Amino acid sequence: MIIAIDGPAASGKGTLGKRLSEHFGFAHLDTGLLYRAVARVMLDQEIALTDRDAAHEVALNLDVTHLDDPRLRGAQMGEAASMISGYQPVRDALLAFQRQFAEQPPGAVLDGRDIGTVVCPHADVKLFITATPEERARRRHLELLKRGEQTEYETILGDIRRRDERDMNRATAPLKPAADAITLDTTRLDAEAAFQAALDLVKAKV
Ligand code: C5P
Repeated sequence: MIIAIDGPAASGKGTLGKRLSEHFGFAHLDTGLLYRAVARVMLDQEIALTDRDAAHEVALNLDVTHLDDPRLRGAQMGEAASMISGYQPVRDALLAFQRQFAEQPPGAVLDGRDIGTVVCPHADVKLFITATPEERARRRHLELLKRGEQTEYETILGDIRRRDERDMNRATAPLKPAADAITLDTTRLDAEAAFQAALDLVKAKV
């Protein structure tokens, strides 16, 4: 069984994916971490993010065993990931791993931008998680403060708007709900309420 969760930055899809996977005893992959990991290798090796060929090479050789590195979750890495994720060869290089991950029994939850549309078009359940940019900025701001990153709400809101714009309007795998996805707006839901709503939607589908 495959549960596909897509949505914009800081929509809560990661938290939701984690909770659904724990509930069902499934594996969980936050696919944004793959793009963040590619960006991190490039920044560490001082390779320009505009170097498509180098980004492709890094993606092909990516070590996927260190996705739990907390440094991947910083705001700078999200921005850099958004830049290299627009390169089709990078996306292609990361596809096989994601599809393989999705096939493991008894099931898997994958979250990202193109899971329902590109990675797992045959997923059993497809959720598209949204929330207003202001609410997402508020959540991300709190999260970063908790991690000790000094950031301003306004800066984060600007980053989120820019990232939405880039993720939705890119030529390759743009962020959009699959035709058969169910949209869940979490603007007025806390994590628990969002989880319960998603659980109801999943149960109704399987
Ligand atoms: O979800 P997260 O904020 O960690 O993703 C970082 C960036 O990686 C996104 O802004 C997006 O550009 C890219 N991404 C993607 N496809 C995915 C997951 C993330 O293009 N499936």
